[in-house]
Amino acid sequence: QTDALVVFQPSGRKGRFPVGTPLLDAARELGVYVESVCGGRGICGKCQVSVAEGHFAKFNIESRENALSEKGFKEQRYDEKRGLADGHRLSCSATLQGDVVIEIPDAFKVAGQTIRKDADTIGMVRQPAVRLYYVEVEKPDMHNPLGDAERLIKAIRERFDLGEISVAHHLKRDLQKLLRKANWEVTVAIHNPDQRPEIVAIFPGYSENLSGLAVDIGSTTIAAHLTDLMSGEILASAGVANPQIRFGEDLMSRVSYVMMNDNGQENLTKAVVDAVNGLVDQLLELAGKDRESLLDAVFVANPVMHHLFLGWDPTEIGQAPFALVQSDAVHCSAADIGLNMPQGASVYLLPLIAGHVGADAAAVLLAQHPETAPHPTLVVDVGTNAEIALWDGRQLLAASSPTGPAFEGAETSCGQRAAPGAIERIRIDRETLKCRYKIIGTEEWSDHPEFAEKSKETGVTGICGSGIIEIIGEMLLAGILSQDGIIRSPQNEVEEAVLKPNGRTWSFIVNEGTPHIEVTQNDVRAIQLAKAALYAGVKLLMQKSGITEVGEIRLAGAFGSYINPAYAMLLGLVPDCDVDKVKAVGNAAGQGALIALLDVNARERIEETVRQVTKVETALEASFQDLFVAAMGLPNSQDPFVRTRA
Ligand code: FES
Repeated sequence: QTDALVVFQPSGRKGRFPVGTPLLDAARELGVYVESVCGGRGICGKCQVSVAEGHFAKFNIESRENALSEKGFKEQRYDEKRGLADGHRLSCSATLQGDVVIEIPDAFKVAGQTIRKDADTIGMVRQPAVRLYYVEVEKPDMHNPLGDAERLIKAIRERFDLGEISVAHHLKRDLQKLLRKANWEVTVAIHNPDQRPEIVAIFPGYSENLSGLAVDIGSTTIAAHLTDLMSGEILASAGVANPQIRFGEDLMSRVSYVMMNDNGQENLTKAVVDAVNGLVDQLLELAGKDRESLLDAVFVANPVMHHLFLGWDPTEIGQAPFALVQSDAVHCSAADIGLNMPQGASVYLLPLIAGHVGADAAAVLLAQHPETAPHPTLVVDVGTNAEIALWDGRQLLAASSPTGPAFEGAETSCGQRAAPGAIERIRIDRETLKCRYKIIGTEEWSDHPEFAEKSKETGVTGICGSGIIEIIGEMLLAGILSQDGIIRSPQNEVEEAVLKPNGRTWSFIVNEGTPHIEVTQNDVRAIQLAKAALYAGVKLLMQKSGITEVGEIRLAGAFGSYINPAYAMLLGLVPDCDVDKVKAVGNAAGQGALIALLDVNARERIEETVRQVTKVETALEASFQDLFVAAMGLPNSQDPFVRTRA
């Protein structure tokens, strides 16, 4: 008997196996993940792989030379019934005939973006915590005293290598009826996160219906994706404002609400759980999916949101030493939290990094894995808090800094959330000091002849976070704002036209007409405070690790995606770095939640990474205050920012 070489792409894993080995077995042996719902019966087609072109791909694709064997027959039958694309084979049926290069269908996509993957996990993505297995169960007879549950388990164990399996208690009541009605052919959903497989749902006949939920619970917005766990495809996405806002704008006021009110925690928990349940209803409807298929959910959140969602009291997180109920990842059932999901559905929350650095920050690390970068890399996710992670080449450090909501458009006179009508880009003419700007939803700038027509639906409504950064940067460049952040009094007629008194300070007029939009001295202060908090947090981590420069900066989150890196640097939000090394990476926390939903290995990886993170608590660091004060200037009082060009 001779051996043949098989190489799995894109992971590059390879090994030699006896001729005649089913490809699926070879894949398993090499740790390459291939789905197989029917256990090699040639029914599900989930095990499809393609035979790559390649000079040593001797596998005979066309003739299916093993077609006469039982396995080949199954493959042929599948081909006739459902069609196999050219070069595609069922890996459970196709056997090795010679050296071959096999391509595993690649890369799940998230909202149009391919998720970055570690080199060694390529080809291993999509190992959800819940998987489907189709089985034909032996009927009972007088000579076989096994119970129905035992015969079901036996049928699964004969086909699939799963070890000791249990049946969730809630299924037992209807098990007998269900098996008989299904004529002893069922698809079971098995939840198997840590080698303790449990049957959590049973569907009659063959089913491919399995979906999961990835949710990012932010202080202001809750965003969720419904995902097909068989294909990795996102079926629907939706978001809703976090209804806890009515109990307090920011995290600390919600913690105070809990401390000051009987049932405070219960009210906040109910608000967020109800909101998630509303999203679940909406997503199922949008995707046309039934609730029964929704068997797994992953949540990411900052520590306060995380605790409140789980029904835990966040009071201790509100005061030093910021103790968490549990920082490790949470596994529980959807029913434990009161989620309107099937009874067997499970829930996973990523680990919390520290008292102020949450599972959302862990999700960002999972999606971005800066620890694999070749140079010092900073990852910043700016929301009401800025989560900051720094990879210095040896260790990963993380902290959170209280930037407040100014970057999100709150706390400033004309600030608003990023929405159609909001000014997102702005330039000040250096001579006339007049502004031209671009609003969200309209391509033309305001000085374009068609702007009025194009923007008439939304109008100009305010300035969003990225717009505020730009306008303050432009005011600085135009010389009407000092490096201390003071709007100067007008010195000539041109300045008098745009600088107007406002109490004892001056305001800069962006838009004269309606709506009246101006930048006040208080607005500049709010941005200075926010940027100082962010910069001081970054600087603290750099001091801790002893580095003075970073090679790359990744800006995550909605704000990070829209700000112009040159202006961020001009104002000193982030340390100086080559502008082209500053990148927006989108909603990394949401991506991390999706990765964890689709791949249990990713859950293990992030748990391990978080264990190794050096946690820095900004509130407990004496030098934070000094760094904060020093960072108030524009760009900064102490750092030179020599390379900055706007
Ligand atoms: Fe189902 Fe191959 S495992 S068709």
